[in-house]
Amino acid sequence: MATAVSTPNIAFIKYWGNRNQELRLPAADSLSMTLDSPTVEVSIEPADTFSVHSEKELSANEIERFKKHLELTNIYLKKLNFKLQTSNFKLTIHSHIPPAIGLASSAAVFSAVAKTYTELLKESGIELTDEQTSVIARLGSGSAARSVMGGFVALRCHGECAIDSAFAVQVADENHWPLHDIVVCPSLKEKKHGSTEGHHLAHTSPHFNTRLKNMLRRQQECIDAILQRDFEKLQRVAEEDAQDLHKVAETSNPPLQYLNSETHRILHEIIALRTQKHLAVLYTMDAGPTVHLICTEDAVESVKDFAYTQKECTMFETKVGSGAKTRIPAKF
Ligand code: DP6
Repeated sequence: MATAVSTPNIAFIKYWGNRNQELRLPAADSLSMTLDSPTVEVSIEPADTFSVHSEKELSANEIERFKKHLELTNIYLKKLNFKLQTSNFKLTIHSHIPPAIGLASSAAVFSAVAKTYTELLKESGIELTDEQTSVIARLGSGSAARSVMGGFVALRCHGECAIDSAFAVQVADENHWPLHDIVVCPSLKEKKHGSTEGHHLAHTSPHFNTRLKNMLRRQQECIDAILQRDFEKLQRVAEEDAQDLHKVAETSNPPLQYLNSETHRILHEIIALRTQKHLAVLYTMDAGPTVHLICTEDAVESVKDFAYTQKECTMFETKVGSGAKTRIPAKF
């Protein structure tokens, strides 16, 4: 049996659109900050049939996704000349991610699942690198590759379409820059269209090719901003990329409208506050109306005060974290 704990991440340069849907090979590189909470714990044990257990009832499609993930993991391991000892497993998921706070749980879940498979291989003497573990995580959810590592993590793609043509690389660890993410969620409704659907439709937007052309520059600017701890630079490039993703989503066919009037109101207010108080805070939004306010230690108290005054919003405080970890069972 193996257990792993992991967390979500928040992207500054966002993954949107695939080169290969089944393999979740992104159309471009992306970059995120791994968060230190909320956590998801996954345990895995060999079993006669494949099953997934969680407090939340899983749909047939969700269970199928875990099965498919194991199938792809086996294909990848075969390429490495490795093999899991058993073909079926019982997966048990305990998620501490509050529902509807706009923190993608699939990144936390699949990075933890990948880590448990890696741990099982270790028991039979096979050591995978973090990069290889990130490929396994990516096969379940693209952004999960980045949660395998802590701190600031890039998901890097090669031009090819092989199963391992995209993997995570750590740009800087969690001690490099103590940034916070104050999450403000204006809506408790489940979103109608998940990111998987968004990735499928991305290429139908007339803006998608322009987005791809700009990604290379943005990714490099973001890496530079992080390495130089240049918050203004990070703010400019991360906000440009978030706006651009939503421009693509909103012009897809059919259009995907993730942001609502509350999102826009929060954005206007935070921009006014940062100008007035010279706060080091930036905004970004994933595939939902939730606003992530990323800020420095100096700005965090003012940003929290702002978030607490947001009526009818759910708020969550998190910061840069150390990525997926194996949990060693306590010895008695
Ligand atoms: C907007 O990784 O959730 O959050 O592979 O279908 O699970 P799947 O997609 P997912 O896509 C993430 C989209 C995003 C941007 C990002 O995190 O990079």
